[in-house]
Amino acid sequence: MDPKKIICKCKDVTKGDILKAMEKGATSYKDIRDKTGAGSKCGKCEKKIRKFMKKHAEA
Ligand code: FES
Repeated sequence: MDPKKIICKCKDVTKGDILKAMEKGATSYKDIRDKTGAGSKCGKCEKKIRKFMKKHAEA
C-alpha cells in the first residue's frame, strides 16, 4: 500500500491520512468524513473509503 496515494481527489486525502484518522479513533465512514473531509464534496470516493477501512480495520 502506498500511503501517499490519493483516495479522495476532491479533498486531496491520502490513504495514509485515512489510516491516521483511524488510529485516532475514527471507526466509520462518517468519522473519516468529519475528520479528514474525504467524501465531503462529490462523494464518489465513498465506496473506496469504505472498502479501504474494512481492509484496514483492526479487529
Ligand atoms: S473524490 Fe472524495 S469527495 Fe470527491
